[in-house]
Amino acid sequence: MAIQWFPGHMHLTRKTIEERIKDIDVVIELLDARLPGSSANPLLAELTGHKPTLKVINKQDLADPERTPLWLDWYNAKLETHAIALDASDAAPARKLIDGCRKLAPTRVGLSRPMRVLICGIPNVGKSTLINTLSAKRQAKTGDEAGVTKQEQRIVLADDFYLWDTPGMLWPRIIVDQSGDRLAASGAVGRNAYDEEAVVLDLLAYLKHRYAAQLDERYKLGLTPQEVSELHDDELLEKIARKRGAVMSGGKLNMQKASEIVLTDFRGGILGRISLETPAEFETWLAEAAVK
Ligand code: G4P
Repeated sequence: MAIQWFPGHMHLTRKTIEERIKDIDVVIELLDARLPGSSANPLLAELTGHKPTLKVINKQDLADPERTPLWLDWYNAKLETHAIALDASDAAPARKLIDGCRKLAPTRVGLSRPMRVLICGIPNVGKSTLINTLSAKRQAKTGDEAGVTKQEQRIVLADDFYLWDTPGMLWPRIIVDQSGDRLAASGAVGRNAYDEEAVVLDLLAYLKHRYAAQLDERYKLGLTPQEVSELHDDELLEKIARKRGAVMSGGKLNMQKASEIVLTDFRGGILGRISLETPAEFETWLAEAAVK
């Protein structure tokens, strides 16, 4: 399903990035480890004048541990890009961010040449959580300082390392159809922009081939992975509805309720550690979109 969604505050974000970028050495782009390709915004490189970028693959605790290293390698193979994985259980993420940025701009060191970093990310990727952890023991809002708008926040991670938080959010830029559904499943897209059942059917279409055992275990389907993968997507959702008691009066299955159950389980990691794309799959989708 094609989803196009533009939150209202994207213009503010865009404007602030454009204004701030001239004084920035490294851009940090936060990505969702479950969909590191789809949660990136390809326009960011243009907006930031192709500044060196640290890709922070966040929420790694929710993602497939075999797939996150593939994404790290994929991003690390790109020029002017370095990638690290992170999650909210890391009580001291500052060191990793500082080390990652220093790899990209090694000469920005010392009080006379402090490192200036801008952090961006699409909704729900965990930016507020990370910013809160980073600013807990540090100087946070600097709204009265010249050139610092009320909505902007500067965090001093070290005497010679400043991190600027963008107000508002970077919007998802959906360039392949597969990304739309994945972003919706992850919670990055506004609730009114998609149909939950359609998103869940698409999610199940992927999970039944790659994560059939997790589906069987969670919903007590009593099926082998092969049997799960051979079910039609709507048949699978119906089985889940029955198993989870999503039934209306008269015995009709409540597919909306079943969809909400699957989405909540996926988003909360209750289905297990799952990634919705590999670099190879993402590259294939990009290639397919390019010839459309
Ligand atoms: P945002 O500013 O980028 O929009 O995201 P935010 O920090 O608000 O995080 C969105 C949701 O993701 C929150 O859950 C947050 O707790 C969760 N989250 C952030 N980082 C991580 C992580 O590394 N791992 C996991 N598993 N979850 C993470 P929520 O349910 O919306 O709120 P709540 O649980 O904080 O109440």
